[in-house]
Amino acid sequence: MSINLTGESLIDQLKKVEEQAESECRNFTSLSELEDFRIKYLARKGVLAEIFENLKSLSSEEKPQVGKLANQVKLKVEGLFERKQQELKSQDSKRGQQFLDYTLPGQKNWKGGLHPLTQVGREIVDIFYGMGFEVVYGPEIETDYYNFEALNIPKDHPARDMQDTFYLPDAWLLRTHTSPVQIRTFEKRKPPVKIIAPGRVYRHESINVRSYCVFHQVEGFYVDTKVSFANLKGVLTSFVNQFFGKDVKLRFRSSYFPFTEPSAEVDISCILCQGKGCSLCKQQGWLEILGCGMIHPEVFKNVKYDYEKFSGYAFGMGIERICMLKYGIDDIRLFYENDLKFLKQF
Ligand code: PHE
Repeated sequence: MSINLTGESLIDQLKKVEEQAESECRNFTSLSELEDFRIKYLARKGVLAEIFENLKSLSSEEKPQVGKLANQVKLKVEGLFERKQQELKSQDSKRGQQFLDYTLPGQKNWKGGLHPLTQVGREIVDIFYGMGFEVVYGPEIETDYYNFEALNIPKDHPARDMQDTFYLPDAWLLRTHTSPVQIRTFEKRKPPVKIIAPGRVYRHESINVRSYCVFHQVEGFYVDTKVSFANLKGVLTSFVNQFFGKDVKLRFRSSYFPFTEPSAEVDISCILCQGKGCSLCKQQGWLEILGCGMIHPEVFKNVKYDYEKFSGYAFGMGIERICMLKYGIDDIRLFYENDLKFLKQF
């Protein structure tokens, strides 16, 4: 085939190749079409390689001229190929971005949740609300009078050592318990009052697994004409059975608080070992959950309630403590570190 070739016919061929390659390349929409194009024109046995082969048989006058043209056409075709390749690749990757794979697992939205203390606090309050208690809140910044004095805790009383207090300027202090809500309520209202008062309290204690400088309490109290210790036992038993379960037993242990008489601490049978003895209850079979008692006549005197006509009970429990028992949490500080690994479990 190459025997009769002249320079002119090669020039013609080259021009045709250039034209053809240009028009073919314009319409490609896929990389596989382009690959066929590369094989046809640029491969080792492609159209251009054949023309270069034929160059060899030209006369030495024709060779340089035709050779130059052949090189130009080759560069041109290579350029066409490269540009088209780039174009198709970038289209491909754009298409990839738009492509939606319906079989992939969905992305879950991370929803926030309530802090375990908020949850348990609300649960406790809800149970008492269901038994006719009204929800009331008191201030966290208090005076000595409401936090101690009116609750029958005089200045020199040893109970003030029990509750190391954060004192603020101008005789203010951070309440050490929710019991001052009793006084604030009694000052404003006449019996009957049946109140549940949740809130934050502060104690200037060393921080460890069992105690933190801030924690939460729920205060409950009921004053009416014929309120008895039996009523107190009834309401607390009902609470414990609703919160911890029907089979949990209560034990009232005689205790002392300046603002109640008689006073008691309430234990529940260990919710982990049912009273047999385990590490949670320190082999005792019982867990202390709250303090309570009949409101002291001195407290009634301070708020000008007739202590011969009215009687009442009060109780106070720590929400952290209840929450720790419920979920088997062994370090109170976890509630305040805001570690999502801890919080996400609730
Ligand atoms: N205020 C007491 C405390 O913080 C608890 C309590 C409340 C005890 C009401 C008796 C009655 O320890």
